[in-house]
Amino acid sequence: MISIHSGVIKRSIETIDKAVNKALNSTLNPVTSFIKRPIKQGIEKINQSISRGASLEEIISGVECPVDDEGNRIIIRVRHLSKIFGKSPEKALPLLEKGMAKDEILKTAGNTVGVYDVSFDVKEGEIFVLMGLSGSGKSTLERCLNRLIEPTSGEILIEGLDILNLDPDELRTVRRKKFSMVFQEFGLLPHRDVKSNVAYGLEIQGVPEKERLQRAKEAIQIVGLSGYEDMMPDNLSGGMKQRVGLARALATDPDILLMDEAFSALDPLIRKDMQDELLKIQNALSKTIVFVSHDLDEALKLGDRIALMKDGKIIQIGTAEEILQSPADEYVSRFVEDVDRTKILTAGIFMRRPREVIHITQGPRTALRVMEEADMTSIFVVDRQRRLMGMVEADDAVRAVKTEKPLQSIINTEIPTVGVDTPMSQVIQTMVTTNYPIPVVDDNKVLLGVVSPSAAAKAIDMGSDVNGL
Ligand SMILES: Nc1ncnc2c1ncn2[C@@H]1O[C@H](COP(=O)(O)OP(=O)(O)OP(=O)(O)O)[C@@H](O)[C@H]1O
Ligand SMILES: [Mg+2]
Repeated sequence: MISIHSGVIKRSIETIDKAVNKALNSTLNPVTSFIKRPIKQGIEKINQSISRGASLEEIISGVECPVDDEGNRIIIRVRHLSKIFGKSPEKALPLLEKGMAKDEILKTAGNTVGVYDVSFDVKEGEIFVLMGLSGSGKSTLERCLNRLIEPTSGEILIEGLDILNLDPDELRTVRRKKFSMVFQEFGLLPHRDVKSNVAYGLEIQGVPEKERLQRAKEAIQIVGLSGYEDMMPDNLSGGMKQRVGLARALATDPDILLMDEAFSALDPLIRKDMQDELLKIQNALSKTIVFVSHDLDEALKLGDRIALMKDGKIIQIGTAEEILQSPADEYVSRFVEDVDRTKILTAGIFMRRPREVIHITQGPRTALRVMEEADMTSIFVVDRQRRLMGMVEADDAVRAVKTEKPLQSIINTEIPTVGVDTPMSQVIQTMVTTNYPIPVVDDNKVLLGVVSPSAAAKAIDMGSDVNGL
């Protein structure tokens, strides 16, 4: 990303604008009148892009990432996407439009419907879970996103770029730069040690050895495998292998992580560890993740939003709360009815990433500014490893600024915390005594999220039929 402040671009455009106007108003060169309109239109377009907050790179390439009403960047936009397997897939599409079912189409046309007419947006920093029974089209849909599977029809925009119209070279570049994948089968190279497995993607990109090993080391640290750099895959447990897979995916610093049943082969306890690890990593790195799972508990725990698929179609898209509280139809109701709500109504489901945190090394003035900008009256303080140090209140920060005291002197370190698996009934009891949002931390006190009073109210709504809420 080229980072030039949009103000600089704006001033340059104004200068060009003035120069062009001057030239156009002069009678000396009659040719100028022919170019008046296109130049004016060009300038107008650039100005509109600047006011939408586009980067210089976007302005130069003419490809702009769409944004939603709240200003979130839409990293993945899918419209009316279909994938039909088999000969002459285009012949099956009209049958689908007429409402013919997937199994009938297989019988009459011999085509298998992988994905049919799906549309959705994935926002920057979101974990979007594709969820559904075996054969519902999750993997097909995920692999269409980077054209590992070629869609039959529809549109896919990756940060605004229409990837179905790229030639093979362009597609390869986009895949390498923007995407990483993590699969259920770890796919590690058996004759390479951990660090060179992790560095593999960078090697393909032609990154020099010293730099790629440094970046591999950082990725290995992120997934908690420091010290295992020289081990061979055969000597690692399943959980550790998947950590290596995750580190390899992160090492290239992709915008988008595609994860297909990445934790499904792991033992339940290890699986839970990996889910926590992913939430922690996501908290720090804010990648855009499309996570495929057939496990509802996992989907509810990890997904900021979940798309429920059946026979290649998306039946419902929503947050965990929305899907549990207002299932779109019979199918979804049946899907969620077996969910153990006491198990599901946990802090992990209701937490959101903290809007803002402040670093321990920053001062009360910064804390105050951040709180003012985010319209908050208190803020959590974390250290370099994002471990929770405590909380600072706006009133105390005002006093500290006046009396020139450091941030450390006003941190309240005695705040209650909960874990992702803490039942909401307990979280609510804690909240009643403190009246503050409740921080959710892992075993190392790393801040994973925050349960706000409004989230607690939602839990009470949903759990009115559940003991303890
Ligand atoms: N290469 C292929 N050729 C023909 N049909 C395919 C192919 N790949 C997938 N399908 C079919 O497309 C449909 C969707 O399959 P997909 O693998 O996407 O499902 P899934 O939801 O990922 O299932 P699972 O949970 O078992 O991985 C299935 O009916 C499957 O048989
Ligand atoms: Mg699959």
